[in-house]
Amino acid sequence: MSNQLPNKNLIARSFGQAAMYYDDVAVLQRQTGDELLDRLSLVTLQPERILDLGVGTGRNLSLLAKRYPKAQLVAVDIATEMVQQARANYRQDEGLKRWLPSSIKPIYLAGDAENLPLADNSVDLIFANLTLQWCDPRTSFAEIQRVLRPDGLLMFTSLGPDTLTELRQAWASVDDYTHVNMFYDMHDVGEAMMEAGLAEPVLDTDHYTLTYETSMALMKDLKILGARNVNSARRRGLTGKQALQKVAETYEQFRINDLLPATYEVVYGHAWGGQAKQQHNEGEVRVSIDQIQGRKAS
Ligand SMILES: C[S@@+](CC[C@H](N)C(=O)[O-])C[C@H]1O[C@@H](n2cnc3c(N)ncnc32)[C@H](O)[C@@H]1O
Repeated sequence: MSNQLPNKNLIARSFGQAAMYYDDVAVLQRQTGDELLDRLSLVTLQPERILDLGVGTGRNLSLLAKRYPKAQLVAVDIATEMVQQARANYRQDEGLKRWLPSSIKPIYLAGDAENLPLADNSVDLIFANLTLQWCDPRTSFAEIQRVLRPDGLLMFTSLGPDTLTELRQAWASVDDYTHVNMFYDMHDVGEAMMEAGLAEPVLDTDHYTLTYETSMALMKDLKILGARNVNSARRRGLTGKQALQKVAETYEQFRINDLLPATYEVVYGHAWGGQAKQQHNEGEVRVSIDQIQGRKAS
């Protein structure tokens, strides 16, 4: 896996700044979230604790709460502003129901998928819609495996290397810098899941095309979403007008029926928590409460 690792602070800052207007442009995110929820309905589960990993503005949090009203939801995001937005949106979606004593409030945590602020074997379902492409696959899947109970389920979407191929090609006509984030392919993702010890991983991909009137409109949407170029090999400093003009000209070769396409390769994946929970980390051995007590933690 040779992709350059993204810069965490920049990711947190970009998404933090995006929290307010993210929902206005999160078209693909809603589609993949709905598809992931559809796929989830094929599995019979009664999760006690659900982690929405990279909760964003919390749109899926409310849908998960409706589907699993007895579950304790945990919302984690690297951007504090996203966590705050998720909390505000959830309260609004709940309406008057929030005053009912029986309503279980989600737990909101600012945290990193690569270093989750959660105990070993503590979650029955992890739902991660378009979050893991911002993470190192080996570290994040190892963390997911650590917190997932052995019979727990991970359901996620991520982005594959065909994503924004037109924009990548347009920028390649300007210089050799990485202007569009690099994404891992399904095989690398599968390998990282296996290495982490997740059980029975299943992956597939689907291509989506969003359309724009201009390439500037696409780049503007990406900025509003917080999906900035965060690769370490990106070009620093401001991008000149001439460079943007060249991108716009090159992008024109893709125009069909008066519109410019933006391709997204979405990776859909799921896996079960594996049994092997002992992790060796620089001399440290983590043994879960479950393993010591020989029973499920509640
Ligand atoms: C494209 S948004 C998806 C948000 C939400 N899941 C949805 O379906 O709308 C990606 C989210 O992942 C969060 N994120 C990125 N890297 C993360 C990390 N390492 N740990 C936790 N959250 C992360 C971002 O802050 C952002 O809110």
